[in-house]
Amino acid sequence: MTDRFEAHLRDAEPEFRELLGRIPLLATPPLPGDWLRWEMLERHEVLSRAPIRAGTTILEVGSGPHAIATVPLAYAAGPSARVVAVERSRWDHFRTVVGRSGLGDRIGPVRGDARRLPLSDNSVNLAVCLHGIRSLHGEEGTVRVIREMFRVAPYVFLAESLPLARNGAQRAHLAMYDLREEVFSAAGGGRDDLHYAPLDRLVALVKRAGGVVERSEVLEVDLPHFLAYFPRARVETVPAGAHREDLLRRWDEADVLRRRDGEDHPPVGVVTASRAQ
Ligand SMILES: C[S@@+](CC[C@H](N)C(=O)[O-])C[C@H]1O[C@@H](n2cnc3c(N)ncnc32)[C@H](O)[C@@H]1O
Repeated sequence: MTDRFEAHLRDAEPEFRELLGRIPLLATPPLPGDWLRWEMLERHEVLSRAPIRAGTTILEVGSGPHAIATVPLAYAAGPSARVVAVERSRWDHFRTVVGRSGLGDRIGPVRGDARRLPLSDNSVNLAVCLHGIRSLHGEEGTVRVIREMFRVAPYVFLAESLPLARNGAQRAHLAMYDLREEVFSAAGGGRDDLHYAPLDRLVALVKRAGGVVERSEVLEVDLPHFLAYFPRARVETVPAGAHREDLLRRWDEADVLRRRDGEDHPPVGVVTASRAQ
């Protein structure tokens, strides 16, 4: 595993390697302590496809509690850039991670709902959302958010995992990930981590939101992905019944796959679009 990390790091610029070295280790077993660094490496590679111009203002939607994409985005945009990180509710480690990255002066966190962005029309150069479509309230909510992104920016860049598995580690990821939506809603926690959408559906959502797709592609990042995992105890909170038994059985099977094959990022769908005139 470490060899794989080193191989990817060798392809990264020295400044980015140094940056990753400053990102805190986190004790959240069974994830390895350096999982946040691995995930940031994936976001860095995905962002290499984004139309980022140095020194511009970039909106990020759904930055999440660990600033996983925010930090690589601020790095890619350069010293005089500004990243406006909009997040609805999850801020737990954001300040610590951004502080340790040393890029805090480029990042402006904003608590808000991206369905109604607290920004004026055309106020940023680019709007991005990485691995966040899954959380944006289904198709209608996603179209609403992307429409807002086009209101404030002429260009939108989206990246999201695809429901594709080309090897055992990707299959293990999907087996565990696909349980999340069902388990969280059956346990009364509301819908989140919706099943990944195929690339043609992402493209259709962008068009519905008023975008012209400039480029769409599938990226094989060849990196581990640790974030599908959730404890079996969460499944045990689902009310008793046949569905609960089925979910427990599927969790056990997914865990066997995860231990045997590891978990990798499925192929990532990447879409760059401009606002229709
Ligand atoms: C799966 S996390 C993505 C984290 C991160 N972008 C990454 O690269 O891993 C999605 C985040 O979007 C946030 N979110 C969901 N709906 C939102 C909304 N309407 N406005 C702002 N943030 C939202 C969630 O709270 C969650 O933290």
